[in-house]
Amino acid sequence: MNLRYKVLFVCLGNICRSPSAEGIFKKKIINNNLSKYISVDSAGISSFHRGEKADKRMMEYATKRGYNLTSISRPVTYYDIEEFDMIIGMDDENIYSLENMLRSEEDRKKIYKMTSFCRKENYDMVPDPYYGGEQGFVKVIDILEDACDGLIEVIKKKFSI
Ligand code: 4NP
Repeated sequence: MNLRYKVLFVCLGNICRSPSAEGIFKKKIINNNLSKYISVDSAGISSFHRGEKADKRMMEYATKRGYNLTSISRPVTYYDIEEFDMIIGMDDENIYSLENMLRSEEDRKKIYKMTSFCRKENYDMVPDPYYGGEQGFVKVIDILEDACDGLIEVIKKKFSI
């Protein structure tokens, strides 16, 4: 039986932000010796990019910062809401779409916005970099690194690790 705490990152396409959140968080889990406690995955609100690897530009910038993006895009389903302990969206639209899938108050307690874990700076969302320039991809990684650090602390506290 898998007793690990399960975290799912969600964005629109599951090719830029949530694959990066997954890659960054996985690395931080290893660095914090938490692999036996936490498992991670990512998914998208849309199925438009189903089956695709992360966006080439996103991969390039993630690699430059030392992160390996291994996700294959898939749409989020209600099974994920049941299966995961924490479901973390990147912006208000992601949260709105996730909330439309919920079936109970128990489900609702699992939904978080990624930027709520930021510690260094206040951000309202992880901005969608897909149609923008390179600075957008760098910004995504900056925000996600901060938020992943905060998330690690939240989970450590939760389990007194
Ligand atoms: P993501 O970025 O939600 O961070 O994966 C996007 C990727 C693709 C599209 C939009 C956002 N798209 O419209 O195809």
